[in-house]
Amino acid sequence: MTNTTDNGRKGRVAVLGAGTMGAGIAQVAATAGFSVALFDVSKAQIDKARAGIAQSLEKLASKGKIDAPTKERALAAIAAFESVEDAVRDASFVVEAAPERMELKRELFLAVDRAAPADALLGSNTSSLSITEIASVVKDPTRVVGLHFFNPVPLMELLEVVRGVRTTDAVVDRALAFAKDLGKTPIVVRDFPGFATSRLGVVIGCEAIRMLEQGVASAEDIDRAMELGYRHPMGPLKLGDLVGLDVRLAILEHLHKELGEQFRPPALLRQMVRAGKLGKKSGEGFYKWDADGPKKA
Ligand code: CAA
Repeated sequence: MTNTTDNGRKGRVAVLGAGTMGAGIAQVAATAGFSVALFDVSKAQIDKARAGIAQSLEKLASKGKIDAPTKERALAAIAAFESVEDAVRDASFVVEAAPERMELKRELFLAVDRAAPADALLGSNTSSLSITEIASVVKDPTRVVGLHFFNPVPLMELLEVVRGVRTTDAVVDRALAFAKDLGKTPIVVRDFPGFATSRLGVVIGCEAIRMLEQGVASAEDIDRAMELGYRHPMGPLKLGDLVGLDVRLAILEHLHKELGEQFRPPALLRQMVRAGKLGKKSGEGFYKWDADGPKKA
């Protein structure tokens, strides 16, 4: 159970990184009643995140999923920071949502360790990197845990809680309570490359790209196959675009290194990332994206 603070919020969540995932995590934490400190090195990224959060809250309010005061309170509860130390200073929970590069994550956790309260839970939203390795840079690695969210964060129910080698039961229990507080359903997995979700998810995505390379069917028909034949809410190529092809490539490179040949990234994926075709966030991937959604590329 999370205690409320003087200002009536449930305590502070510091979110490090204002990309797609960081913005989504900030939104759900603010909607759930926490005050949120959102850090990014880029002011432009923070502005973009704020605009996206406002739009998403508006959409949810217009459908009656949240009421107007909740929307206003959530927006007002998010403060932007351009220093990690300032963002985490009063945090009860820290959720790092930076790009999937171990060096960057280690640097961020060193800064967090310098400034966060000693009893703050330290979480990483990594999709596949080792929580145990990330935890190794802080003085007390027992309080580090994986908090893996799914895109779009406000709509997806799962939170994958990843137990590092040194994470304590008490920290896992706290992470589970936090997940429920955010309205998510948690699962607990051991720290193993790709956890329970990414390892399975990228296999389908990767095969879909290979099928496209081999001319098995068009992107639209490969997606339709899984949407209509397997009832996936979204085909694997469209989903890759939504997640970000750079993110998919980083996960595959890591799993290829850790788990072997099965995860070798397809050449087409590398080429697209090199060309800046990153999916929805860059406006083009396997589809062209605009405000109305994906269209044939
Ligand atoms: N905020 C608020 N509302 C949103 C939203 C957001 N961010 N995104 C979409 N919506 C709304 C839409 O406006 C739409 O509303 P209406 O029904 O009133 O029109 C509703 O949600 C449904 O959206 P769509 O009609 O556009 O499409 P949909 O029915 O296919 O639902 C979806 C969209 C929920 C994204 C669904 O397609 C889906 O579940 N897709 C799979 C997502 C998935 O697998 N995510 C995991 C990716 S892996 C990951 O994130 C982890 C990682 O480590 C990389």
